Amino acid sequence: MKTTLSVIKADIGSLAGHMAPSKRLLETVEACIHERGRDLILDHYISHTGDDIAILMAHTRGEGDEQIHKLAWDAFLAGTAVARQQGLYGAGQDLLKDSFSGNVRGMGPAVAEMEIEERPNEPFLFFAADKTDPGAYNLPLYLAFADVMNTPGLILSPNMSKGFRFVIMDVSNTSGDRVIELNAPEEIYDIAALLRDPERYVVESVWSRASGEQAVAVATSRLHNIAGKYTGKDDPVMLVRVQMNFPATGEVLTPYAIGHFVAGGMRGSHQMPLMPVTSNTGISYFDGPPVVSCTGFCVHNGKLTEPIDGFAQPFWNTVRDHVANKAIEMRRQGFVGTAMLPMSELEYTGITEKLRDLDKRFALRAEALAPTLA
Ligand code: F6R
Ligand code: MG
Ligand code: MG
Repeated sequence: MKTTLSVIKADIGSLAGHMAPSKRLLETVEACIHERGRDLILDHYISHTGDDIAILMAHTRGEGDEQIHKLAWDAFLAGTAVARQQGLYGAGQDLLKDSFSGNVRGMGPAVAEMEIEERPNEPFLFFAADKTDPGAYNLPLYLAFADVMNTPGLILSPNMSKGFRFVIMDVSNTSGDRVIELNAPEEIYDIAALLRDPERYVVESVWSRASGEQAVAVATSRLHNIAGKYTGKDDPVMLVRVQMNFPATGEVLTPYAIGHFVAGGMRGSHQMPLMPVTSNTGISYFDGPPVVSCTGFCVHNGKLTEPIDGFAQPFWNTVRDHVANKAIEMRRQGFVGTAMLPMSELEYTGITEKLRDLDKRFALRAEALAPTLA
């Protein structure tokens, strides 16, 4: 059976700053999808990661379907009304356009979708990250799909020995989708050369070269490209199919034990390590650390099994401790050097104005003199 998995997420308001949506907000979105989606979708699952609400839907209408996208948009609108009533912070902040125009792409919410021919059993993982941008998935995807040190399946499984095709997007291009296709293993140095710059080059999808099937779909939207200015971090979602022709679940999860540094955290303007957390976890330390959740399912005839949390198992407690220590260590560096993002990625314009004013006060010294003391 051909099934479409669509995950659409947005930040439409949060408790106490950017920590988590309210219970009523989640209930409103859930009720809206439940009622209005009755004849449209086969199943759904609503969760939050930090301050973002994600709507995962299984249906048969294909990718980019107007009615599916409208369903999510309307649920976010209904949620926004509640967020306004409750006085939540940033109510409706990711709904950047006033009226729905056929597809939520380019309107603020992040989207990851895949139309798949269901295998007899179809295990997949749904990832959601908060306080970071889509490049946060670059390293974990490279390791899971191209590095034999992480993924022994690349040499052990005949189904994976042909490698994977990476579709990488240049997200700095605002006039359209600028993409490149590169094959692992032959072109891994080229893939690495691009993925080392996660603010510009982002993995959009990964495909099996053995079967031609899609393995990964990442939400690549950069909010500032839509709004023309910074409106917050993009907080990307991702779908990953696992097992058989694809890496095993554990091979996809393993890279998250690194706690690699990503763009995000406080005011969306810092470098902080990515912490794997359980689904429905909020935000705290330094408006972070950036977090990623993973929920696993099998989908069968368009019906989702019960969810299993990818980062709930006790192993991840040690990882979380390690990431917390990395975060504290980085924060000891405050505003200096790598602790803060480069100017082009800062979410605030205040510093640009400050530097412009200060620049006017610089003077070229006529001759080498000792500075005058004020
Ligand atoms: C992402 C997030 C941050 C904020 C950013 C701006 O979920 O919450 O990227 O959008 O820190 O925050 P305010 O609105 O406080 O200026
Ligand atoms: Mg936010
Ligand atoms: Mg968020």
